Order: sequence, then structure tokens, then C-alpha cells
Amino acid sequence: MKSILITGANAGLGKESARQFALQEGVEKIYLGCRNLYKASDAKRELEQATGRNIFEILQIDVSDLDSVKQAVESLPEPVEALVMNAGGTGGDKFNQKTKDGVTQIFAVNLLGHVALTNALLKANKLTKMALYAGSEAARGVKEMGMKRPELKHSSIEEFVSICNGSFFGPVKDATVPYGPIKYMGALWMSSIARDYPEIRFVTMSPGGTTGTEGFNTLSPVKQYVMKGMMRLMLLLGKVHKVEVGAKRFVEAVQNEVYQTGVFYASKKGLTGPIGEQGPLFKDLNDKKIQDNASKAIQRFLN
Ligand SMILES: NC(=O)c1ccc[n+]([C@@H]2O[C@H](COP(=O)([O-])OP(=O)(O)OC[C@H]3O[C@@H](n4cnc5c(N)ncnc54)[C@H](OP(=O)(O)O)[C@@H]3O)[C@@H](O)[C@H]2O)c1
Repeated sequence: MKSILITGANAGLGKESARQFALQEGVEKIYLGCRNLYKASDAKRELEQATGRNIFEILQIDVSDLDSVKQAVESLPEPVEALVMNAGGTGGDKFNQKTKDGVTQIFAVNLLGHVALTNALLKANKLTKMALYAGSEAARGVKEMGMKRPELKHSSIEEFVSICNGSFFGPVKDATVPYGPIKYMGALWMSSIARDYPEIRFVTMSPGGTTGTEGFNTLSPVKQYVMKGMMRLMLLLGKVHKVEVGAKRFVEAVQNEVYQTGVFYASKKGLTGPIGEQGPLFKDLNDKKIQDNASKAIQRFLN
């Protein structure tokens, strides 16, 4: 891909992916999609120094704010070949509060804004070849981290709407409760939109359990202590990997067409190691009706 837009590019996996893309032959432009211009400028400077390349442009975008998403698409000066939907995580200390669009903050950051961004880019003919969504093994549950597999009764549009607006979970205090089901919906939406746009390759890729990012920084202090401690221990035990490895998964999924449209890839087992299709492990993922229900639920908050 010659040109790539990465959301959440000033830290963690987004920034490291930008670095790795810039070192690849043929990459001519990387848009750093960031909400904070100071952090974005620092990241741009750091990336230029690390790669010796002057190909980074900042695109201001707050994916939790649909007006900001719209403005970002308008101000993008040219089409991009690839979009990396990386911004996300646990949604800050107000993760369960509703945005003005009626979804929870954690949903807006991880999914609603990216759906709006993809729709707007496609409508404006500003996305030409592929889109990657940062998935997570949390979508199928992660026992080691106390994350449960989402247990939906009907997988109806209404049930998915309740994940979007948080009523599925009630007044939870722990952001890791809605996180997995939201990433699950992200993978379903990607499979659904992949059927609508066969000319674009839509791949959901989990970076795997990745240390060295800022991912847990907005959890409560206790939860942060527990999660960060667990990640350090898991790194020592070889059960998670460093940020370079996680970002490499994104770069490969973007550049290598062996990763097929509509498919969700993640670690075959645990949180690191070989990558595999998740559909055979979690059969609802390949159910077109369920994929479309998830997508229709999200669209309700965009109309
Ligand atoms: N690390 C893991 O183990 C892991 C595993 C599976 C999936 N993932 C996924 O991989 C992605 C990156 O995670 P990470 O660990 O690299 O996290 P990170 O270090 O916290 O980086 C997240 C990036 O997203 C940006 N961001 C957050 N909210 C945003 C918003 N509303 N608008 C625009 N940008 C926003 C952050 O910007 P600010 O600096 O302004 O906050 C930051 O640049 C996430 O989607 C995460 O769910 C991570």
C-alpha cells in the first residue's frame, strides 16, 4: 500500500505500526490520525527520526466524536489505499457514560467512530484498497484475564443495540466487561461490510496480547496494577509479546493478501504465537445473519 491512514497513531500499536510501514518499500504517505495535536506532533517527530523518512502527516480525528470524524474525512487531502482502525482500548474512566450519540464512550472509541469513518471514506471515494480493524482475543474471552466470552441469547439487532448503549451490561465498573463484546461486534461488522464492498479487503486482526503500550493507563488504579503486573508476568512466561510483534501483525495483514476479506484473525491459542481464523473457534462469527444484525444495530446510532 502506498498510503495508509492509522487512527490512534501517537502511541502504542498505532505508532509502532506507522514506524514499521514507513520502513517498507513503496509506502509514500502515512496519515497519523490523532485527537491530540501535541501528542501527534511529538509522535511525528519521533517517527521521522526513527525512520529517516518525511512521509508522515497529521490528521486530527477524535473517533468518539462523529463531527470530528466527518471533518477529518473532509480534510483528508487525497484518497488512502489502506485504513488501520487502531484507536481504542478501555475507553477512559468514564467508559460507561453515554456520548451524545447514545452509545457508551468505550463503544464510541472502539467501534462507532470507526464505522462512521469507514462509511464516510467510502462515500467520498477516499478508501481504495483495504481496511483493517484492531480486533482482540477478548472477543472470544480470555480466561487468564477474567474476560468472559460474550453470551448473547438471540444475537438479535436489539441485543446488539444493548451492547452499543451499554444496557446489556448495566452499571459496570470494570471496562474489561464490555470490551470483549464490543471487539466481537467489530469483527462481525467487518464481515458484514466486506460482503457489501467486494472491491475492498476488510480484515480484522488482533495484535495479540501486547505489552509496552498505554492500553491499561486509563483503568482504575487497582485494575491497572493487576493488569500491568499480569502482563509483565505473562511476558516473562512467553504468553504475550512486545509491541513490535503486535504491530507486525497489523502491517502483515495490510500488505499481504493472504489475509482474506471478511475474516477475523487472532492468536490460534492464548494471546500470542501463530495466527488463525477465529470463525472455526467461535462459529457465530461466520453466521451472516448475526454479522448483519450487529452491523444494523450500529447503523441505528448513525442515522
Ligand atoms: N495491547 C494489547 O494487548 C491489545 C490487544 C488486543 C487489541 N488491542 C487493540 O489495539 C488497539 C491499540 O491498543 P494499544 O494497546 O496500542 O493502546 P494505546 O497504547 O492506549 O494506544 C491507543 C491509541 O488510541 C488513541 N485514542 C484513544 N481514544 C481515541 C479517540 N477517541 N480518538 C482518537 N484516538 C484515540 C490514543 O490516543 P491518546 O494518546 O490521545 O489517548 C492512542 O494513540 C486498540 O484498539 C486495542 O483495543 C490491544
